[in-house]
Amino acid sequence: MWPFKRTFSLKDTGLFEGFTDWHSHILPSVDDGVRSVERALEILDLYASYGIAQVWFTPHIMEDVPNTTAALRERFAEFRTRYTGAIELHLAAENMLDGLFESRLEAGEVLPIGKNGSHLLVETSYYNPPVDLYGILERIKAKGYYPLIAHPERYLYMEKADYERLRAGGAKLQLDLFSLVGLYGGDAREKAAWLLARGMYEAVGTDLHRKEICAEMGGYRLTRSVVESLERVIRADTLNR
Ligand SMILES: [Fe+2]
Repeated sequence: MWPFKRTFSLKDTGLFEGFTDWHSHILPSVDDGVRSVERALEILDLYASYGIAQVWFTPHIMEDVPNTTAALRERFAEFRTRYTGAIELHLAAENMLDGLFESRLEAGEVLPIGKNGSHLLVETSYYNPPVDLYGILERIKAKGYYPLIAHPERYLYMEKADYERLRAGGAKLQLDLFSLVGLYGGDAREKAAWLLARGMYEAVGTDLHRKEICAEMGGYRLTRSVVESLERVIRADTLNR
């Protein structure tokens, strides 16, 4: 038996060539992510050096960070005038399912994700589900969106049966790429590997908040089977259908 499994650095896997990052906090000064335009531009240069082709900016919208869609659109438009690189930039949001969310959904005050704008990226507390989680997901669908659950592997309260129930109810799951390398602990890593091996993810994002991680991420190592499963998710490109 081999004493170790062969691993490959993310950069060498080629996964980043043409990659779309479906989750990032790079739009500067709107949440707990990147703070300055200069830093955001540096990150995008690093992304370009990895071969990343498209990035979705998904700033938080929550009671503690009550960004409006109009202000985010304005900030995004301003940022675009500063960026002269080749990466295609898009704006959506990461919606916390808290007391603010449903009134905004009702008012159409949302920034959807995906080429056809047919998905809403949502998150919950890491510790507890919101009251009536499945009712909220139904109301999202009634408005014409697929709920796309951000980093499902990182919620402490979610178990394998929950993921199956979410998908059976029409929600889609978005992997946080860095869960696979243990950035969020062994439990998240194990759940991510389990979900990935079963083909239960439909999109991949980095949830990038800091340049330091971006500079390191090309060196993160993955096994061959994980790389192959990731390739399948990326190639399927479900959110652009
Ligand atoms: Fe995020």
